[in-house]
Amino acid sequence: MTIQPSIGTPVSRVDGAMKVTGHALYAGEHQARGLLYGVVVSAAVARGRIASIDASRARRTEGVVEVLTHENRPQVPWFDMEEGGSADTTKPPFRILRDDDILFSGQPIALVVGTSFEAARRGAMLVTASYEKADHNTCLDAALAHRYTPEKKKKNNTIKGDVATASAQAAAKIEQRYRLAMEQHHPMEMHATTVEWHGDGTVTVYDKNQGSQNAQEQLAQAFGYDSDTLKVLNSYVGGAFGSGLRPAYQAYLAMLAAIMLKRSVRVTLTRQQMFTHVHRPACIEDIILACDGESKLTAIALKATTSTSQFETYTENIIGWGPTAYPCANLRLDYGVAAIDTPTPGNMRAPGAATGMNLFEIAMDELAYAKGIDPLALRQANYSDMHGLTGLPYTSKALMDAYREGAERFGWRERNREPRSMRAGAELMGWGMATGIWDALVLKASARATLDERGILTIASAASDIGTGTYTIMAQIAAGALGLPLERIQVSIGDSTLPPAALEGGSSMATSMGAAVDRACGKLAKRLFDTVAQAKDSPLGIVRFDEVEFCEGRMRVIEDPARFIDLRDIVALSGASSMNCEASIDPKKDSTNSKAKNTHAAVFAEVRVDQELGIVRVTRLTLAVAAGRIINPKTARSQILGGAVMGIGMALQEKSLFDHRLGRIMNHSLAEYHIPCNADVYDIDVVFVEEPDSEMSPLGVKGVGEIGIVGTAAAIANAVYHATGKRVRELPITLDMLL
Ligand code: MOS
Repeated sequence: MTIQPSIGTPVSRVDGAMKVTGHALYAGEHQARGLLYGVVVSAAVARGRIASIDASRARRTEGVVEVLTHENRPQVPWFDMEEGGSADTTKPPFRILRDDDILFSGQPIALVVGTSFEAARRGAMLVTASYEKADHNTCLDAALAHRYTPEKKKKNNTIKGDVATASAQAAAKIEQRYRLAMEQHHPMEMHATTVEWHGDGTVTVYDKNQGSQNAQEQLAQAFGYDSDTLKVLNSYVGGAFGSGLRPAYQAYLAMLAAIMLKRSVRVTLTRQQMFTHVHRPACIEDIILACDGESKLTAIALKATTSTSQFETYTENIIGWGPTAYPCANLRLDYGVAAIDTPTPGNMRAPGAATGMNLFEIAMDELAYAKGIDPLALRQANYSDMHGLTGLPYTSKALMDAYREGAERFGWRERNREPRSMRAGAELMGWGMATGIWDALVLKASARATLDERGILTIASAASDIGTGTYTIMAQIAAGALGLPLERIQVSIGDSTLPPAALEGGSSMATSMGAAVDRACGKLAKRLFDTVAQAKDSPLGIVRFDEVEFCEGRMRVIEDPARFIDLRDIVALSGASSMNCEASIDPKKDSTNSKAKNTHAAVFAEVRVDQELGIVRVTRLTLAVAAGRIINPKTARSQILGGAVMGIGMALQEKSLFDHRLGRIMNHSLAEYHIPCNADVYDIDVVFVEEPDSEMSPLGVKGVGEIGIVGTAAAIANAVYHATGKRVRELPITLDMLL
């Protein structure tokens, strides 16, 4: 019997074999006739203007076809588009090569195009520029004097009750400054674009991004194309985590070069150039927490500042998460940004929450110690079924179960609360915990399900799979809905010409697309039934739709499985070569607006600290996750593992180290910008607690892409305190801070 997976089955990735055998082509791997290669030349100063640029030697280099600079680039609508504003995912990035202005170190100043990558790279080394330098600042502390709250964020800067009085009367309180370093985006696949120039006024753009249609709209607008003349394909994406929500600058450069030279062009960023675009902003946050004798929070005051660039205002929700998780009568919330001379920051896995909730949860740990209560007990004492800021009830919130199950699996009961009290051999051992919270989102999505005469079911949508498992779960949902084995499902996504789907972002894709696929398959099932019901001499006899089931490639009568018809025969019966149905999900209709929607996690961490060297190892992590229904426990677990590993990086390693005199990131390579490698990752235990939810989304799914990082960094930081007795309020915690 063939296996028909359905929702809840731990199916292995359907695209796994394609990926490991190299058959899955990424943006920088597509071939085109007469393909040219572009290599980016980056600015050497952080601010000023280009006094002169000399590309003559590059132009004389064998194999170099052209060098694009602000002096000779073609005029396209992009350069006339309005400058600045919010760094929305629907807005094009900073207009590179528009003029001689330099606004950050590493800003592209030229694109050398050659007949081979090597020729272009050789040419790029020979481009020289001189600059008129201007004063710059890349230090957030030094920019705090110019902090401001952007208009759209002002409404979140709330004052409720009386923080001063409440904290004066508190049983325990803490007041401290916390920090998170600027982090860089480092998916395995670097940003790349291949523009295929067809010569008939149309182009195909293979681009690394998180939304084929968003990229299509951006690029079409910027370069004067439309949906008939420019299409975007992003079939395979090697991780993105927010860095591809809007197409990155190499896509614009590849388009510019293709238009100028009327040729196909590929531009791939180097790992070092990956440090010259979106990143998680640095954050400085002042936190006051106070609680009463029962350990209930009585005051929360948060003043947070994140960095942005000089030319766009990127904002995050830093201050909302703690007060959402833990209702509190006295609140003072104040968020602002300060501009520094860097590229514009952008979304990076759980943007806002990864920063805001992790810092908040370190403060919560401090409050637990100030009050003399177990850190888990403090969270439980402040648990609420209501959203702390809006007061709305939740569609579902199994966080208490997550606390209980996580603590049980981790063995939290065995913990000695005293810092420096636990040891493993010669090492200090510490146990810490934290709460995680993230949004549960439904975005617009649609899908088409087509069954052909061979019995192959194809699911088509413009949706993207950024490595998260979209292909797999879409196939799985379709297989379950129409009773087909996985081998008979094809998933066609990552193509802007297919039925519309929003960005793969905000952990929304499984929730939204999953429901659209299920709905499209449900419609198709009904069409198949109707086709049989209307036929003369139906092999099923007279039955109602609710009396049949789809199983093993057949539609059959539930009570009498001997009465069946093969799905291929139904297609034949229809007289066409295939049958298809399309369906959409609309957040306004398919998800409630009168209730709060979040995912939650309880994260427990064990660290071991070498007392002489200050080296910290995260020897155990337990994440108990409440995220609605889990479509695929295997791929969902992988998402949580990935988030947790990024949490280890955030807690102990990731930091953009600037030389502020140069305004330049000095550790701009993966040798020096540390991210966790296998040797840094020990046991990670993931458990999904049951969380039935019928109001959040049609399938009861909430999404798991981001929740794994929220709380993890704090749990580790809190474990470091428990191990060492030393409270570090700055992430990452590096060994110099522990000695
Ligand atoms: Mo994610 S930061 O929503 O791509």
